[in-house]
Amino acid sequence: MSADVGTRVETLLEKMTLAQKIGQMVQAERQVIGPEEVKAWHIGSVLSGGGSCPGENTLRDWVEMNDAYWAASMQEDDEHLAIPIIYGIDAVHGNNNVRGATVFPHNIGLGATRDPDLLERIAGVTAKEVLATGVDWTFAPTLAVARDYRWGRTYESYSEDPAVVCSYSGRFVRGLQGDLGTDGVVACVKHWVGDGGTQYGIEQGDTRVSEAELRDRHMAPYVPAIGAGALSVMVSFNSWNGDKCHGHKYLVTDVLKRELGFLGCVISDWDGIDYLSDSYFEATALGVNAGIDMFMISEQWKSFVEHLSAHVSRGTVAMERIDDAVRRILRMKLAFGLFEKPRPAERYWSVHDSYGSREHREVAREAVRKSLVLLKNEGALLPLSKDQRILVAGKNADNRGHQCGGFTVAWQGTSGNEFVEGGTSIWEGIRAVAPGAVMSSDGSGKDADPDLHDVAIVVIGEKPYAEGMGDLRTGDDDVVKAGSQIHGSLKVLEPYGGTTVLSELHPEDLETITAIASKEVPVVTVMVSGRPLVTNLELDASTAFVAAWLPGSEGQGVADVLLGDHPFTGRLSFSWPQRPGTPGSLGDAEGEPRFPFGYGL
Ligand code: BGC
Repeated sequence: MSADVGTRVETLLEKMTLAQKIGQMVQAERQVIGPEEVKAWHIGSVLSGGGSCPGENTLRDWVEMNDAYWAASMQEDDEHLAIPIIYGIDAVHGNNNVRGATVFPHNIGLGATRDPDLLERIAGVTAKEVLATGVDWTFAPTLAVARDYRWGRTYESYSEDPAVVCSYSGRFVRGLQGDLGTDGVVACVKHWVGDGGTQYGIEQGDTRVSEAELRDRHMAPYVPAIGAGALSVMVSFNSWNGDKCHGHKYLVTDVLKRELGFLGCVISDWDGIDYLSDSYFEATALGVNAGIDMFMISEQWKSFVEHLSAHVSRGTVAMERIDDAVRRILRMKLAFGLFEKPRPAERYWSVHDSYGSREHREVAREAVRKSLVLLKNEGALLPLSKDQRILVAGKNADNRGHQCGGFTVAWQGTSGNEFVEGGTSIWEGIRAVAPGAVMSSDGSGKDADPDLHDVAIVVIGEKPYAEGMGDLRTGDDDVVKAGSQIHGSLKVLEPYGGTTVLSELHPEDLETITAIASKEVPVVTVMVSGRPLVTNLELDASTAFVAAWLPGSEGQGVADVLLGDHPFTGRLSFSWPQRPGTPGSLGDAEGEPRFPFGYGL
């Protein structure tokens, strides 16, 4: 942070009224705030929640919206200071909310590449596709170290091993932020801290670990990210030994800000303070006093402003705390050069041709290739040759929505090819290079015929989900237990399923594999999923088996490797479970995993 930025922060801060300062601390969702309110309430930031898009979700719609917010924030008069708004979005695997974006593999797939250079390039492309929409800030990368694949957000985690996450975190931040000039966006590392360590893998649950374990496993990846200059950190929904991170002064102020020397902006997660107390008035003070600087609010931002003003007049929130928060917000904006940038429509990357371009998609395709992990290959069935007669089957074979997973166009993702514009499904990728490939008529593989087909590729796995809706659990016992440990409330969503055994979760997959294998056509199974699952039956019924994770829009990358244009190089960044009921995590698994961490043929 340059001396110049420091001086400018202080000069501005001196001029600001309490209302102007509190306004900067608010980040409201675009659907509940218009440009006039941004000006009238001196709002610091606006965001898009998952799937929240202006107009027809085109680049122009985005830039126009950002222009209007920016113009409102930049008016200067007796009542208002010109402080540019900063707009945030979840560009967590490419600029995934926006139509036609290049969609990269989710983090779990990137974990398998073990390629930090590639990660930095992906971040650079993502930054440009975010800038194309006039947006300045992405809530990425997620630095969770997922320890239980029942967690619905396992795919947001690079690895169960903090060393892999550490090898990426600084590089990804550098790739996003660049030199904080024209080509970068503000990064936000999340979720501080322990999000991947909750008991039973419950989203927003309780991470019950010693401080040493919290530090070594869950905090470690933040150190390189902060070292690389990450300008923001998002606080996590989870609790640590019963205490919510959103109210945790020790974790937020003492450790993150003081000990690790983080000088940027600490932002709450989506309504994250709401779960601290039944009283929103009390929750406001608890969150601010814990050290959170900016508050992501879905609706009640006006109540937040009123409550915080009241706390300052009563002395229950100190003026120094408000100044610390605003100083950090201004520092983020100034360090990013936001005050010098022209209106979004006039910025270099706005509506730029490179958005969704072939060049960008090539980087994603390379990432897909490198993320594939070959788990079984009997008789060296793979790679296939392009002149083979290949039957393609399975519910995820021709489904760009499914292969992208959650956080794609909609919060929970989409189904079918329609909403993911551009790119190729896995089937489309195979068809493009293997002229003898055919699609099973109804996808079920029942039409397999050894006289017609030399081999089959069956694409199986999960359907899209995000956050708590991806959790796996049997009954409510674990949630009730976790809830009873936490001070505050736990938001519970309907889970994805009740088992980690794929043949119970998605019996149709094994049916497709066996329908084909029983006809003596050898099967290459490609599993599209946000996590490893117990797949002994599917593995045994297949001749070859590939973990493809959530590859994103470029299904061509899968064909590149299955058909021999590129080798398999991916290695598991999560151990692969042998039986249900074991977390399947590095060092924790009871008994042997089916495939250990680092495995990959
Ligand atoms: C998620 C965050 C995300 C935020 C904004 C929350 O529900 O936990 O990861 O950045 O929503 O969409």
